Amino acid sequence: MRSAKRNNAGGISVSRSKLGRGARRRPDRSHISRRPFVAATFAMTVDGKVTTRNFSPVDFTSREDKLHLFRQRALADAVLVGHSTLKRDNVRLGLPQADLREARIERGQMPYPIRVIVSNEGKIDNRLNIFQSDISPIIIFSTRRMPPQYRQALRQKATLHLSKAEHVDLAAMLRILREKYKVRTVACEGGPTLFRALLERGLVDQLNLTVAPYMFGGANAPTLTGLSKEFLSASVHCGLIDMRVVGQECFLTYRIKHPRRRWK
Ligand SMILES: NC(=O)c1ccc[n+]([C@@H]2O[C@H](COP(=O)([O-])OP(=O)(O)OC[C@H]3O[C@@H](n4cnc5c(N)ncnc54)[C@H](OP(=O)(O)O)[C@@H]3O)[C@@H](O)[C@H]2O)c1
Repeated sequence: MRSAKRNNAGGISVSRSKLGRGARRRPDRSHISRRPFVAATFAMTVDGKVTTRNFSPVDFTSREDKLHLFRQRALADAVLVGHSTLKRDNVRLGLPQADLREARIERGQMPYPIRVIVSNEGKIDNRLNIFQSDISPIIIFSTRRMPPQYRQALRQKATLHLSKAEHVDLAAMLRILREKYKVRTVACEGGPTLFRALLERGLVDQLNLTVAPYMFGGANAPTLTGLSKEFLSASVHCGLIDMRVVGQECFLTYRIKHPRRRWK
């Protein structure tokens, strides 16, 4: 790694200019003009697993990685999670670090990002940790399949967007976030089912990926794109724009390449 430099965290980083000519090009943003920029952040093992087969919360990354997740969250106007990740990890989606909140205020953002939850069925338990803190608005995108007792309980804590369709239209959700809530950047924190759905619809622009020094094995432990045996409808091309090594972990940043639109 001849062109690598030591970074502030004592690791090694390779900047975007060292990672090939493609990375220098200004990203084509025409495809996202009506929706926010979406950056997903994940940690995976060396063999590509994001959790174990029983989907229980598993702590396999360093403090640096946890800080990395908070830093990515702090950059966004909204943080987005799927219902299963919310339920299993019972996350508040806050920002414990005062310096990250202060930097947001200096940039003209609210101290905490808006918190956004996606669920088709809508059976979200209002006793989860996220609903016990009112640091920022909570917005739930779901469908009219949400049972009335859940609607009633969740309306006390969150704004509900319930669509008539069987499934949430993710592109429409992003448009609403942009137009109604003025969200320009979304930090998607998974899980893999939601990430795959966004990816398949061409709705992810950046992937922040930490590779942690473990292997879990097992066909029933999900990878970054979940457990589906189906191939993605088309392979997704990722351009590596940054790489940082801190301790035993590698922090990668990819720009997701969107196929050019064909105009009829
Ligand atoms: N290593 C990492 O970086 C990382 C990051 C995040 C999560 N995880 C792990 O991943 C596991 C959870 O993964 P997962 O794939 O089961 O969960 P997920 O993507 O968080 O959530 C799946 C659920 O979200 C809702 N959902 C997903 N796609 C949707 C869509 N297109 N439209 C509407 N709703 C949608 C559905 O909720 P309903 O069932 O309510 O309809 C679905 O069942 C957990 O173990 C968590 O710890 C790991």
